[in-house]
Amino acid sequence: MLLEGKVAIVTGSGRGLGLAYAQELARQGAAVVINDVDAATADAAVATIEQSGGRAVAVVAPVGPTETAQELVRTAVETFGGLDILVTNAGVLRDKTLWNMSDDDFDTVINVHLRGTFTCVREAAVHMRANGVAGRIICIGSPTGQRGNFGQTNYAAAKAGIVGMVRTWALELKKAGITANAVIPVAATAMTSTIPYFAAAVEATERGEAMPPFFRHDLGFGVSEDVSGVIAYLASDAAAGVSGQAIGVGGDRLQLWSHPEPVVTAYHDGGWSIEALQDEFPGLTEGSLQSVGETFPPLPEDLKRS
Ligand SMILES: NC(=O)c1ccc[n+]([C@@H]2O[C@H](COP(=O)([O-])OP(=O)(O)OC[C@H]3O[C@@H](n4cnc5c(N)ncnc54)[C@H](O)[C@@H]3O)[C@@H](O)[C@H]2O)c1
Repeated sequence: MLLEGKVAIVTGSGRGLGLAYAQELARQGAAVVINDVDAATADAAVATIEQSGGRAVAVVAPVGPTETAQELVRTAVETFGGLDILVTNAGVLRDKTLWNMSDDDFDTVINVHLRGTFTCVREAAVHMRANGVAGRIICIGSPTGQRGNFGQTNYAAAKAGIVGMVRTWALELKKAGITANAVIPVAATAMTSTIPYFAAAVEATERGEAMPPFFRHDLGFGVSEDVSGVIAYLASDAAAGVSGQAIGVGGDRLQLWSHPEPVVTAYHDGGWSIEALQDEFPGLTEGSLQSVGETFPPLPEDLKRS
């Protein structure tokens, strides 16, 4: 077992992707701190891991505040004797177009995803550095954070921010031998199963059948278990040299995302006045202006639902 003797925390692991991550880490030998706001799902998650011969304990508390981060690390240390792996996965959605989004919609999503990632990683990093642990930080991003998505101002800000923090932590934690990476998952969960475009894929899963290859291959859309292998790999000694990366995974597909790089660089002696820009900007950027959002291929006829 790849993670024998390791201790992991997975936030938001009562159900969905987080549960699959926790189960896979446990299957690989790690003891796991399960976290969720929902006590029933957290307890059920612990029970599934224990029934499979693994070790797990639940912390029912909302990720966001520092107190929860402290409780998570304290529980890992007191129950299992240390902390080696942190997966920041807890998340909520409050989708609205910009002009309809309230302060509360914005703050709720930022608090759970962005602040929750910051407070948990800070707490874990303090523990790992103080104890000489070559730990593993795995933070969950989203295609929305990479490309933007209609109706997701709050979520795009949080998820892009998480990848920004990961790049910074890869630099800051390098000397301590701690890696920090982002995983960009796509899977059928409560968060995505109501999207009409994915209906045929969700139906297949509900019938206990494999998803059609169009979803698994062309779209990189599968089930939660398809993502958990990458989480366990990044948590293992095999990935000691991988840090600061954003790795997309879903269905049968794996992608390594690029970080933003300049695509055009030009110089103007004395600086760029509005007159110089009027003269040169269109020619300099022609064909190089960047696209936004994700474009999905049209659904094949047999996979269309009303
Ligand atoms: N499903 C996808 O395709 C997809 C795509 C990109 C990113 N993600 C990200 O993956 C993560 C998991 O998503 P999912 O689809 O499994 O969602 P989900 O809604 O099925 O599960 C999220 C879990 O987090 C818990 N949670 C919510 N707020 C919490 C808080 N403050 N503290 C602790 N737990 C909390 C929920 O109770 C739930 O059990 C999220 O960060 C999400 O943004 C999912």
